[in-house]
Amino acid sequence: MADLIKVLIVDDIPSTLDNLQKLLSFEPDIQVVGTAPNGKEGVEQARKLDPDIVLMDVNMPIVDGIQATEILAQEVPNAPVIIMSVQGERDYLRRAMQSGAREFLIKPFSGDELIASIRRVYQLEQKKESFLAKTAAPEDQAPGPQPADGARRAEHGQVFFFYSGKGGVGKSLIAANLAVSMANETKAKVALVDLDLQFGDVGVLLNLDHSQGITDLIENIEHMDQEFIREVMVDGPFGIKVLLTPISPELADLVTVDHVRRIFSELRKMFDYIIVDSSCHLGEINLEVLDHADRVVVVTSLSIPSIKNTKLALKIFDSLSISPDRVVLLLNKSDAHSEFNRESVEANLRFPIAGQVPNDAKLVINSINRGNPFVTTHPESEISQRIRELVAKLIPSSPAKEAAEPADKKARKGLFARR
Ligand SMILES: Nc1ncnc2c1ncn2[C@@H]1O[C@H](COP(=O)(O)OP(=O)(O)O)[C@@H](O)[C@H]1O
Ligand SMILES: [Mg+2]
Repeated sequence: MADLIKVLIVDDIPSTLDNLQKLLSFEPDIQVVGTAPNGKEGVEQARKLDPDIVLMDVNMPIVDGIQATEILAQEVPNAPVIIMSVQGERDYLRRAMQSGAREFLIKPFSGDELIASIRRVYQLEQKKESFLAKTAAPEDQAPGPQPADGARRAEHGQVFFFYSGKGGVGKSLIAANLAVSMANETKAKVALVDLDLQFGDVGVLLNLDHSQGITDLIENIEHMDQEFIREVMVDGPFGIKVLLTPISPELADLVTVDHVRRIFSELRKMFDYIIVDSSCHLGEINLEVLDHADRVVVVTSLSIPSIKNTKLALKIFDSLSISPDRVVLLLNKSDAHSEFNRESVEANLRFPIAGQVPNDAKLVINSINRGNPFVTTHPESEISQRIRELVAKLIPSSPAKEAAEPADKKARKGLFARR
């Protein structure tokens, strides 16, 4: 009995509740412990019944499925949510994932899909719990060997660290598309690492299976070798390998600077280029990677908060003795309506903009919702061309350089030269 997966179903349509209940009743390892007709009652039931899995509809009266999922993530964190929505609600995917949902099923889905999803989420949750139990136990962790700075520099791969002082400026979108474009243009070995450890969305942007991530590496850090790293990384477009975030935000805190140092030391041996997406938080981990990155790509936009935070970030870089030569300032949504423009941003920041990416709302939103990078679906769009230019700037000897040359000459003259 202890092994039964207890499921709570939340849906406002009685016939759907009925069908799902019937469907699950045939599974010997699954037991429906309750149902609820809206998000509010769903949360109440979850508190009472302590289910292993909550199946959650999106559009419901009183409290909808996304809000209910957010509440559950806070208040009943051991009740992982699988969101069920109809096709037209696909743009809910991001919000659903950000709300803390573990999986997303598009209606109509088959019984097999549903059951596989329930079992998968349940198993991951078990794995997470046993992992938490293990890491919570006190242990005398000997810090791993730390290569000297010089040794690390001598390793092969180059690290490009994407940073912004403000969220929502397009850092993840650009990092993901850049990694794919770089692999396509250079045919080199490219890794993409999502270091926005709590709320990274590289997996969603590239429509990847997020059943493993960095936590699997740190769980076995003493035995981590290149083969194991390769296994844990997920395959992305054009042969890129992606290291995803922990499967659940609360696991992010378990990742330490030492883990990151050791992982990057191996990654540098395995890949030619390592693209890193990050969170805005300038904590230990970001500072560690930032400090050793070959290039820091700072993404900004034409809004006052973004410019203000970019200014602060550049100041911090300066005080950390990060040479301006290593910093590449990128202006995203460069054609957005704003009282600012490239020149005024450069004047304000006293730093040259090395590249700009236009606003392309339609292409970008389609690309995100489908999980297809726009550089693969629309290589000739202006936004994709600008990404290729950025590849050429980061790797001056790459074939992408020639492709980008004509449009690019002027901007490149002043590249990396601080004003
Ligand atoms: N060049 C662009 N054109 C259109 N929309 C964009 C562009 N860049 C970013 N966006 C929008 O901004 C949102 C936030 O981007 P994201 O990469 O997640 O930001 P960050 O990682 O900096 O928090 C994206 O979901 C997308 O809708
Ligand atoms: Mg991001």
